[in-house]
Amino acid sequence: MSYSIAVTGKGGVGKTAVGALIVRALLDAQATPILAVDADPNLNFDAALGVQALDTVGEIRELATADREGIPAGMSTSEYFDYQVRMALLEAHGFDLLAMGRPEGPGCYCAANHVLRLAMDRLTDSYPYTVMDCEAGMEHLSRRTTRDLDLLVVVTDPTVRGAQTLVRVMELTAELGTKVRDTQAIVNRVRGHAPEAVREVLAQAGLGQALELPEDEEIMRRDAVGEPLRELPADNPVLSVIRGLVEEKVLSGTIAT
Ligand SMILES: Nc1ncnc2c1ncn2[C@@H]1O[C@H](COP(=O)(O)OP(=O)(O)OP(=O)(O)O)[C@@H](O)[C@H]1O
Ligand SMILES: [Mg+2]
Repeated sequence: MSYSIAVTGKGGVGKTAVGALIVRALLDAQATPILAVDADPNLNFDAALGVQALDTVGEIRELATADREGIPAGMSTSEYFDYQVRMALLEAHGFDLLAMGRPEGPGCYCAANHVLRLAMDRLTDSYPYTVMDCEAGMEHLSRRTTRDLDLLVVVTDPTVRGAQTLVRVMELTAELGTKVRDTQAIVNRVRGHAPEAVREVLAQAGLGQALELPEDEEIMRRDAVGEPLRELPADNPVLSVIRGLVEEKVLSGTIAT
């Protein structure tokens, strides 16, 4: 059984940072191997994790769609996708990274998307933990390229408008029928406490238990100079909150002994 986590929210609120710190917390707990999925076409999960993705799944799909003759004789399309998806995996210590690339190029990839989704499902089944950094706007959920989730982490900045967007993301998820077992709202980059008005918006939407992550100089510095967030010092205050979340929501239910 694989425990799948997706991080989403509007642009620039800290989704990639939160995703990278969830991976870090799982690594620290030796909850491995982890499949990290960069579902954002802009591809920056790799930098936050301190690795460099080379191939993307989008390129594979385009290849197979444009040139079916590229599929070796005797290999079914689904075997070909399984093989190519595994080839696109970047292997690191304790985790592998899969970059999705562009969701669609010119032309219709509906059939390819379907086969790809099945290949992704088979891949995630072989990892106990999957952490997905989604693009802003929930494109992957709306295209239903995301399978059911154990934990949806929705991130907002400490503004009322941000919180309202987050509530809409949750409503969209429900409408699309993506099954989500558990949801965690995060208010990121908080100075002191999140404004009361923000907490009210979240509480009214039934998201009263939002976690607050402090504005952190070290995270900003690392992003500015290109140092991976995965290597934040162990006592970093933002990492501590994420570690608490992972222990409470993810590890408590999945470690047998
Ligand atoms: N708690 C924090 N304290 C300080 N800076 C932060 C914090 N969280 C994120 N940031 C900074 O905010 C910026 C945006 O973060 P990040 O790239 O994780 O957001 P994102 O939601 O993934 O953005 P995008 O929508 O572009 O993918 C980065 O420069 C990051 O360093
Ligand atoms: Mg991002």
